[in-house]
Amino acid sequence: MAFKSVKGTRDILPGDSERWQFVEHAIRQAMRRFNYREIRTPVFEETALFARGIGEDTDIVGKEMYTFLDKGKTSLTLRPEMTAPVVRSYLQHNLQHQSPLQKLFYIAPMFRQERPQAGRLRQFHQFGMEAIGLDSPRLDAEIIALAAQIYHTLDISFTLKINSVGDPVCRPAYRDELQGFLASVFDDLSPDSQRRVETNPLRVLDSKDHGDREVTKGAPSILDFLCEPCRLHFDDVLQQLDAIGIAYVVDARLVRGLDYYTKTAFEFISGDLGAQDALGGGGRYDNLAEQLGGKPTPAVGFAAGLERLLMVMEQNGFVFPEPEIDVFLVALDEQSRKWAFKESYALRAAGLAVDIDYADRSIKAQMREANRQRARFVVIIGEEELATETASIKNMQSGEQLNISFVELQQFLMDNIEKSR
Ligand code: HAM
Repeated sequence: MAFKSVKGTRDILPGDSERWQFVEHAIRQAMRRFNYREIRTPVFEETALFARGIGEDTDIVGKEMYTFLDKGKTSLTLRPEMTAPVVRSYLQHNLQHQSPLQKLFYIAPMFRQERPQAGRLRQFHQFGMEAIGLDSPRLDAEIIALAAQIYHTLDISFTLKINSVGDPVCRPAYRDELQGFLASVFDDLSPDSQRRVETNPLRVLDSKDHGDREVTKGAPSILDFLCEPCRLHFDDVLQQLDAIGIAYVVDARLVRGLDYYTKTAFEFISGDLGAQDALGGGGRYDNLAEQLGGKPTPAVGFAAGLERLLMVMEQNGFVFPEPEIDVFLVALDEQSRKWAFKESYALRAAGLAVDIDYADRSIKAQMREANRQRARFVVIIGEEELATETASIKNMQSGEQLNISFVELQQFLMDNIEKSR
């Protein structure tokens, strides 16, 4: 074969696409219940949006972005995440004038040039939501509750890890203290972490390297450095979670891979995912709008990978509904095929999902096809049926067979399919 999909990208074929639709439908229903409304932004943005929004020192901006110059020599980037684009759009369209709080969601492809492995792709999909405009700790809890409800609906178990990463008032003092500590164990750190001591010391705590984790066990905790407003906010978020019965683990080492977070940061972890165990993550980002040139605008959000979610559901043996059609018309000769073609058109116009055979196959092959398509009813037409204007119908669930006159056929199918839905 000449061409293959690019490394780290995947086709979603029929069979899979119905599973995706099922999950997307569950997500949309949950968003509806929590009154989050969909936002769609372009797949590419100016590179500077991400560099400034996510942070120059992050892995995403430093090495994972798909960046290119267009013909006008503008540097563009395929979005690696949606928070910066959503805030850009919020500011551009002055959404704050519509209401003090905007609750937005998305289901969309993202692009990151990472090393592909199980659960890590170069084009992947996220669902996510952003509540922009207010700093109520209840919104942090609402976002977490919404994510939790989606996972519950899909029978996915998780551990919720939560932390506060402070804000520009209290973080610098912690950063200094942490850098001092890391300097004392510098020689024992991995090269990656050694580099980060200067540029992004908090991320050293998040290192997956076993040695790094050992030597940083005695690192100072951010939670001991929170200023009063951050401390109060964090306690309030935890109380809201307690009030709605969502279990969490406070993890002072949790640092997200994007620089825009302030105060609350959290991740949903799955025991069923192996190395890439983050189902999703999010947090508060009260300074992002300002960094992008807007007015100070508090906000909180979350995003999660759809591929990982589906991986867990498949591993759990989740029973997805099978795709099916309402009617398959089996035709035995050329005249019947003409009739079936016309009838299929009429039945489809009446709202039924209908298919017919286009390969002039034997009755046996057509019945097999009807089975494969999981047709609820099969209508069989031959010379005799045409002569008597009566169709032979088989209910594929019960096996029951009967004859119905052509004039009554459509109504019969509509009534019975309605009943079996
Ligand atoms: P993130 O942690 O970079 O956060 O990504 C969120 C989730 O996207 C991850 O937990 C993972 O499930 C999925 N994901 C990330 N990279 C890949 C990949 N290469 N292949 C497959 N799945 C992947 C964000 O993107 C933030 N925008 C979340 C957020 C929203 N914070 C506030 N609002």
